[in-house]
Amino acid sequence: MPTTVLLVDDERNIQLTLSRALSMEGYAVEVAGGGREALEKIAALPVDVVVMDVRMPDLDGLSVLEKARETRPELPVVIMSGHGSLDTVRSAFKLGAFDYLEKPITEKEKLLVAVRNALALTTLRQENAALRREAGPAEMIGSGAAMRRLFDVIRRAAPSEGRVLVTGENGTGKELVARALHAGSRRKDAPFVKLNCAAVPAELIESELFGHERGAFTGAVAARKGKFEQADGGTLFLDEVGDMPAAMQAKVLRVLQEGEFERVGGQQTLRCDVRVVAATNRDLPADVKAGRFREDLYYRLNVVPIHAPPLRERREDVPELAARFLAEACERNGRRPMRLAREAVLSLQAHEWPGNVRELRNLVERLAILCDGPEIGGADVAAVLPDARRPRPDRFRAGASFHDLVEEAEREIVLGALDAHGDNVAETARALGLERSHLYKKMRALGVKRGEGEGS
Ligand SMILES: Nc1ncnc2c1ncn2[C@@H]1O[C@H](COP(=O)(O)OP(=O)(O)OP(=O)(O)O)[C@@H](O)[C@H]1O
Ligand SMILES: [Mg+2]
Repeated sequence: MPTTVLLVDDERNIQLTLSRALSMEGYAVEVAGGGREALEKIAALPVDVVVMDVRMPDLDGLSVLEKARETRPELPVVIMSGHGSLDTVRSAFKLGAFDYLEKPITEKEKLLVAVRNALALTTLRQENAALRREAGPAEMIGSGAAMRRLFDVIRRAAPSEGRVLVTGENGTGKELVARALHAGSRRKDAPFVKLNCAAVPAELIESELFGHERGAFTGAVAARKGKFEQADGGTLFLDEVGDMPAAMQAKVLRVLQEGEFERVGGQQTLRCDVRVVAATNRDLPADVKAGRFREDLYYRLNVVPIHAPPLRERREDVPELAARFLAEACERNGRRPMRLAREAVLSLQAHEWPGNVRELRNLVERLAILCDGPEIGGADVAAVLPDARRPRPDRFRAGASFHDLVEEAEREIVLGALDAHGDNVAETARALGLERSHLYKKMRALGVKRGEGEGS
C-alpha cells in the first residue's frame, strides 16, 4: 500500500501544484478542500501524514489539528500558513503539529523534506511500539486486533503450567498456537510431542500413550516409550482431541488425575512431568451434552481456553500472510520473487476462506506455480477463486451470528458498487444513495481499502 498524504487547502491551484509535487515523489495524495472534509478523510482513509493550511473557510487548520489528535494521536500533521504570525505557529506546535511551512511554498523540496521527516517519525514510533509489545510468536503472522489479542493470551498463558484447550476451525493455526505455548514456557528446551488422537488404532491406544515393554504383545520386539514418557519435562500436544475414542478418553483422564501410568506389560508405575495442550475444531461442549465426550475430561483439559479466529474475521492480516506465503512458495519452487497486484490482494481479502490460513497458503502456492509474470493480477486470483464474489442464494448459515452475516452482505454490496464505479467513492456513494462520508466510514469499518486515488 502506498504512503498516503492528505493535502488540505481551499485554494485550487495550491491543491494542484502541491499534489503534483507529492505524486511525483510516489505518494498517494488525497485532497480535502476544507477542514470538515479533512476530518472526514482522516477518519475514513488510511492517511499517513497531513499537510494542512491554517486558514480555511469552514473549519480552520488548528481546530482540525486538535480534533485529529483525539482520533489519531500518532498522525503527523504539517501546518502551512501564509499569514504566519508567531502566535499561529506557537499554537500549532502546542497542539502537536509536527512541522510548520511558510506559504507560499516556492521550494517543493521543503515540503518534501517535511513530509519525509514526518513519516520517519511515524516509522520510529511504530518500531518502538512494536518493540514494547514484543514480537508475536516466531512464525505466527498477523498484526490486526484479533491476532494481537491472540498473541496476548498466548503470552500470558505460555509460562503457566495450566492446561490449554485451543479451539478453532480447520487451518486457523491451532498447532502453531500449541507450539508457541511450548516455546514460551520453561519447558521450551524439553520435547514438544504431538499425538493425533483421531489417528490412533483402537488396539494401540494404550501402547501409544504409555508405551510397552519388550514382548508385551505380538510385534513388541523392543520396549518403547509412549507419548507421555517421550514428552517428560515438556509439552504433550493432543491434537484432534474431540475425536478421541471413548476408551482412550478414560485412559487419558486417569493420567491427568493421578499423574501415573504403566507401560503395557510393565510392572513399574511411572510418573511424568508433562503439560498437556489440546486442540479441536469440534464444538466440545456440544459433544459433552450429546454424551460423545467425557465431561470430567473436558474440564480437566479446558483450564485455559484459547480460540484461534477464522481468517474471514481478520481480513486485515490477509495481505501480510499472502506476501509471506508467496515469498516462501517462490523460493520452494525455485522461482524468481513475485508480487501481488492490489486487485489480487483485494480479491483474496474478499474471499470467505472456509479453509482459513492453510487454504490461503495452498492457493498462493498454486498462484506462484501457475502465473508467469513477476506480478500476480486480479484475474489470476479470480481464476483460482471462481466463486469469490458470487452472492450466496441462501445468506443464513448455522454458526454465524446475525452481525457477521450482515457485515458480509455489506462488504459484498460495497465492493460490488465500487467495482461498478471504477473505485470512485463519490460516484459509488451517489449510486448507493449514501453520504460520501458515510460510505467512507462504512468502508473503514468493513476493512475495504479502495478508492485511494479519489480526490487527487
Ligand atoms: N498466523 C499464522 N501465520 C503464519 N502461518 C500460519 C498462521 N496460522 C496458520 N498458519 C499456517 O497455516 C497452516 C495451518 O496451520 P495449523 O496446522 O497450525 O492449523 P490447525 O488449526 O492446526 O489446522 P487443522 O485444524 O486443520 O489441524 C500451517 O501451514 C501454518 O503454518
Ligand atoms: Mg492441526
